[in-house]
Amino acid sequence: MKTQYRHTKIIFTLGPATESEEVLEELIRSGADICRLNMAHATNEWCEQMAERVKKVGERVGKDIALMMDVKGPEIRTSKIEGVWELMVGEKLDIMMRGNGESKGGVRSISVNYPEMTEAVKEGDVILVDSGLVHLKVLEKKPDYIRTEVVIGGKLGSKRHINLPGIRVNLPALTEQDKEHIKIGAKNGMAFFALSFVREAKDIEELKQYLKDCNSNARVIAKIEDQCGLKNLDAIIEASDGVMVARGDLGVECPFEQIPIIQKMTVEKCILYGKPVIVATHLLESMTYAPVPTRAEVSDVAQAIYEQTDAVMLSGETSVGKYPVQCVETIKKVVAHVESIIPAKHNEGPLILSGKNKMLRSAVVLAQEIGNTGIMVFTRRGESIQKLSSLRPTRCPLYVFTDDHLLSVQLRLLWGVEPFYIKFFKDRNQTIEEAVKLLKERQYVIENDYLIVLTNILVSRKSIDTIQLRKVE
Ligand code: PGA
Ligand code: MN
Repeated sequence: MKTQYRHTKIIFTLGPATESEEVLEELIRSGADICRLNMAHATNEWCEQMAERVKKVGERVGKDIALMMDVKGPEIRTSKIEGVWELMVGEKLDIMMRGNGESKGGVRSISVNYPEMTEAVKEGDVILVDSGLVHLKVLEKKPDYIRTEVVIGGKLGSKRHINLPGIRVNLPALTEQDKEHIKIGAKNGMAFFALSFVREAKDIEELKQYLKDCNSNARVIAKIEDQCGLKNLDAIIEASDGVMVARGDLGVECPFEQIPIIQKMTVEKCILYGKPVIVATHLLESMTYAPVPTRAEVSDVAQAIYEQTDAVMLSGETSVGKYPVQCVETIKKVVAHVESIIPAKHNEGPLILSGKNKMLRSAVVLAQEIGNTGIMVFTRRGESIQKLSSLRPTRCPLYVFTDDHLLSVQLRLLWGVEPFYIKFFKDRNQTIEEAVKLLKERQYVIENDYLIVLTNILVSRKSIDTIQLRKVE
């Protein structure tokens, strides 16, 4: 058996550093599984152009990767300002609910896109700007502005993100701009939509309804970025098709020392619920400027792999970094090593074991007992694949065949799954034989390898679930 399969998937964020056809091709060839379009700074035109380009390059390489649109959700942002300001410790700064720029008694001011912010904060609260680089303490509140004092100074540019740790922001889950983006994304074949700052299950349901209205079958990923999302984590996992541990904002909204535990707990919960999970942000941050990672970064990536996250996600490293291809190569190296030393095992716990699910587990037991073998599954809607993947059968690739193109790219997110988009024949045995042929052609298997096949067969017009053991000829 070809030992090149990889259980842990790689997501990269598209940006100026990666949007040329040449770099995209290198990334896909290197093994990137999902391409994320971050809509924080993107335009509709860019999104359309990129979706087309990724598809085109994927066709050329012979690997369709999934597109994930990341919409911004309820984010508070500062207004546009002239140039970049240096904020000094002790300096006062007014945050205006309306208007922009005018200063009162020599105090500079900025405005925000959140008119209710005066009600949300109280005296003594700390407002964090630009991922917590700048801290502003609330001195006094007026109906139309908040006077603050700079406690940690630094640079302030335009449209910087504001965090209010522990405060529930009263902005809609989906803004009008998000809706515009989603419409374009739906038209351009997004396989996933990731929603930022999901606070409750209702936010996900709202997005799902909107996708229905847009005629999109895309799956929805809930980005857990603040304390509110964490509080409602179980319900959010149940409502969504997957979760992202958005460590960037989480580390600002929560004390950063809690991040490792939040990550571990979220990954465990998602596996338990049979939903995919993504560990995101700062995995290889130093590689934005350097061709090799720090040792601490390598350990961080390895930790996520040990925890058996479905995917890890690169952000700035690939959108604006100098070494995007090296980043993907680095992740691949760490994955290959860590996955090669984890012994063959699987989860016993996570399933509500219906008869069908017990059968999935039996297939895993059989495959691991035989060793050096994978499981082939045929699916139209992918229902049992998530369950199979959540058993986390190490050393056992899951070859999933489907005749639904969108599903085939969506399956790229799942731990251990190698999806194949194929034609199904009327005769099920012919479909299986063609699929085995494909695995052999692509060198996933060689002669005399065993394969476990999970499929239903027709016996006297009745469909019967079976586990088969086949030897590759
Ligand atoms: P962002 O989300 O990159 O869209 O901010 C991820 C995170 O906060 O970690
Ligand atoms: Mn974020």
